[in-house]
Amino acid sequence: MAYSEKVIDHYSNPKNVGTLDKAKTNVGTGLVGAPECGDVMRLQIEVDEESGVINDAKFKTFGCGSAIASSSLATEWLKGKTIDQALAIDNMDIVEELNLPPVKIHCSVLAEDAIKAAINDYRVKNGLPELVAEKKGH
Ligand code: FES
Repeated sequence: MAYSEKVIDHYSNPKNVGTLDKAKTNVGTGLVGAPECGDVMRLQIEVDEESGVINDAKFKTFGCGSAIASSSLATEWLKGKTIDQALAIDNMDIVEELNLPPVKIHCSVLAEDAIKAAINDYRVKNGLPELVAEKKGH
């Protein structure tokens, strides 16, 4: 199977690997697992409280190369976005950007789920209603 250069680059030099302080109220943490393969992804966002813009994002992924590349790309995309803009990130945008093959689509779903879980955690911490979970059927 041929992977795109972008996957290989994000996999070999993942951006934003690390941990934010999850005790902080302006940090949201999402931890999700893929039922298909058991891979696990943790993604965190830090929101600037004045502007509402995500000023930092970090991840740790215990999973395949495509999941690592998807989460690396997701953290790059998240920085500088508002929560609403972040919610609009769709796994198919990741598939397209990384040119993922069909068997690896669920890896991008994991990244989208992790973004939503991180936003949800942030919302709950800040007294906002939880997101309504929508399940993607991949
Ligand atoms: Fe399952 Fe990639 S193979 S997340």
